[in-house]
Amino acid sequence: MRIIVTGGAGFIGSHVVDALVRQGDEVFVVDNLVTGDAGNVNPKARMINVDIQNKDAVSALWRDVKPAAVCHLAGQMDVRVSTRDPGYDAAVNILGGLNVILASREQGTQRIIYAGSGGTVYGEIPAGASPAEETLLPNPLSPYGISKHTVEHYLAMYAAWGGPEYVVLRFPNVYGPRQSPHGEAGVIAIFAGRLQQGLPLFVFGDGRQTRDYVYVGDLVEAHLLALRAGTVQGVFNVASGVETSVLDLIDLLREVTGIAPVVIHQPARAGEVQRVVMSNKRILEALDWRARTSLVTGMSQTWDWIRMKVGHA
Ligand SMILES: NC(=O)c1ccc[n+]([C@@H]2O[C@H](COP(=O)([O-])OP(=O)(O)OC[C@H]3O[C@@H](n4cnc5c(N)ncnc54)[C@H](O)[C@@H]3O)[C@@H](O)[C@H]2O)c1
Repeated sequence: MRIIVTGGAGFIGSHVVDALVRQGDEVFVVDNLVTGDAGNVNPKARMINVDIQNKDAVSALWRDVKPAAVCHLAGQMDVRVSTRDPGYDAAVNILGGLNVILASREQGTQRIIYAGSGGTVYGEIPAGASPAEETLLPNPLSPYGISKHTVEHYLAMYAAWGGPEYVVLRFPNVYGPRQSPHGEAGVIAIFAGRLQQGLPLFVFGDGRQTRDYVYVGDLVEAHLLALRAGTVQGVFNVASGVETSVLDLIDLLREVTGIAPVVIHQPARAGEVQRVVMSNKRILEALDWRARTSLVTGMSQTWDWIRMKVGHA
């Protein structure tokens, strides 16, 4: 199948590209490399440097490639950047997303798989409440959560207007090799990078805030299933359904790395939610997807990569 992967030079997108290439698809990567790295791009995929904010460039490219499917992962993915500059966040995530949808529609693309954000769309999941199901009323608490969620509406609306079909995969906290240890997001990569350099770990607040973590390889599997899911469409959490606190993560990292970290507590960050956990019942039933990689296994793979990367930085 001829597939465009936007954001295919980034952390998650590059793993999706690798898997598609492995299964024999013809893959085109669309990325402006603002946070991505051309070195991540599989040599069997074609890398095209285009900014998705440029409607004419996107439209022309889609006309040339005529993709059967699109995995749309390009985006501004940092909550704090979205707070500082909500206009930029909206321009990339909402208008850029719309450019991708409209170009796909023009060229008769059958399916769009979209990188949604389960970690921000639901807002705070109150203590004691069940894991968030897809039917829970969205309550994004950041410009990023709003921009990621807005595109879901366009996808559903255009699907109802004749296509493309769509699958929104609402990602939880994704981790694994190629996640930047120097970014503001991605606590496992950041902690592992600091451990590797012998630096202390900063914990904001008491460290009891919880998140739902999924290994990037499991997320890739969800993309492969969603691309070939017949007429199945809609919104799906791609979650483990398990809550892990920051303090639990530190214990697991100690187990995996054999290094006892120095932990420094800092004041809780304004606006940070305490609890995120999502149900994976819908994706299990519709696509037979489950999170197969345990945190310990996924962390070991991440640690191996960080040692190689930071060791050679
Ligand atoms: N990492 C997570 O835990 C997580 C969680 C929920 C959702 N997501 C979503 O998954 C997607 C991929 O995230 P990631 O963690 O791999 O981040 P990433 O920053 O590594 O990847 C994003 C990619 O998009 C590219 N990009 C950004 N703006 C662009 C533009 N205007 N035009 C073309 N390309 C552009 C970047 O260069 C980068 O390669 C994003 O849409 C993000 O919102 C990520």
